[in-house]
Amino acid sequence: SEVLEELNGRVVIVGSGLAGLMTALTLAPEPSVIVTRATLGGETSSAWAQGGIAASVGKGDSASLHLADTLAAGDGLCDAKVAARILAEAPAAIAALEQAGVEFDRDSEGELSLGLEAAHSLRRIVHAKGDGSGATIVRALVEAAVRTPSITILEGYEARRLLLDGDRIAGLLCATEKGMVILPSSRVVLATGGIGGLYDATTNPAGNFGQGIALAARAGALLADMEFVQFHPTALDSRRWPLALVSEAVRGEGAMLLNEKSERFMAAVEGAELAPRDVVARAISAEIARGGRVFLDARQVLGDRFTARFPVIDALCREAGVDPSRNLIPVRPAVHYHMGGVATDEQGRSSVSGLWVVGEAASTGLHGANRLASNSLLEAAVMGMRAGLDIAGLDAGRTALPQERINVATPDPSLVRSIVSSHLGVLRNAGAIHGAIAALLPLVDGDGPASDPALVALLLSVFASLRTESRGAHARTDFPLKLPDAQRRSMRLSDALDIA
Ligand code: SIN
Repeated sequence: SEVLEELNGRVVIVGSGLAGLMTALTLAPEPSVIVTRATLGGETSSAWAQGGIAASVGKGDSASLHLADTLAAGDGLCDAKVAARILAEAPAAIAALEQAGVEFDRDSEGELSLGLEAAHSLRRIVHAKGDGSGATIVRALVEAAVRTPSITILEGYEARRLLLDGDRIAGLLCATEKGMVILPSSRVVLATGGIGGLYDATTNPAGNFGQGIALAARAGALLADMEFVQFHPTALDSRRWPLALVSEAVRGEGAMLLNEKSERFMAAVEGAELAPRDVVARAISAEIARGGRVFLDARQVLGDRFTARFPVIDALCREAGVDPSRNLIPVRPAVHYHMGGVATDEQGRSSVSGLWVVGEAASTGLHGANRLASNSLLEAAVMGMRAGLDIAGLDAGRTALPQERINVATPDPSLVRSIVSSHLGVLRNAGAIHGAIAALLPLVDGDGPASDPALVALLLSVFASLRTESRGAHARTDFPLKLPDAQRRSMRLSDALDIA
């Protein structure tokens, strides 16, 4: 493998969504390298985010109200201390994004206009270009990164393995068009996003199978809360793949969920259409499991205003032959966000020395068992800033790196999708979870294309097998109740393999 010695000493950031870009921009003028498998900002979940960023910036709002909503949605598993700190920095994150060039939507008085999403007690979703929040944010940060001389951008580089010197990070092995290359570095940040690509139905870029989790797990890092996979209740049910999202903000404007008999089946549930996401996703799944279909009805509440407020969703619906101002929008749940990931502290530090993890790939404890809507972009921005500040204060020497000759096959998540989708979906039970473990174990061995995706799916299964209760996004038909003293859980890959 070629060693890019000229970049030695720089911070290496893997991933170019909101978390990775914020880390690099915060680090500047400290030199960094952003490694991305696609183009900068391309193929990132951040760029597809519609709703926006939750931040207590509106009249009558406060960080403590935001915290109360976050803890309630998290269903007893949030780390309240961590959550309080991250949420308190939301207004500063919005200001930092504006500073970096993001223009959020404002009302006629110049105040930030705020959307409403499920399980928020008031309007607090800061958005940009209506439902084009993620794309607008990522575009502005990409431009800022390109303008920043201390940031080197390596596009078309796929991170394959972390390299260690003893128990410290020493570099990153990447696959490129020209072969394998090594980036020597004692400081690596993983900002690789989620795991939706392990499932048939997802709103994430299909290539996102949890690369960061696989890299960190193989390097011996602690993983946390891996069983908690959030299904967004309302992906647009169409032939598009991955599925398009119909933002919760549409329900925030009053759109109703109907079954094929035109019954408003959420009416009797507390919070109705804006109940926590896990509750709504299970109710929709139950309708679909009965052989029915589910629709979102925005005809009365938005009608002709739909296009102006939700231009992206309007276009996505029309692409599928649906005019949302006049037709019912067919929806179904799809994997949207992973609460679990690499365990980190409040600075984004993992348990491996020299390895930080930020954004969806990390598990800070903010989200607990079920993430509150629009807390994900918030966490990505805040933790990118925090990790950047933490790393900038560290003295980094150059790394002495042995020439390693490892060749790892291109990971192919499609090889595990049917196992994961059928065994680890909205409803789980011991038989299904153990079936997944048995099917995944042989795929983990070796360096074949299924190995890394299978490893992430195996970790998810082992964590799921140990949580013998139903809480937040983890719903078990064989253990429908909550245990009284449930805790977060963390373990290393070696522990999980022993249990499997
Ligand atoms: C949405 O717009 O519904 C997604 C918001 C989120 O996932 O936080």
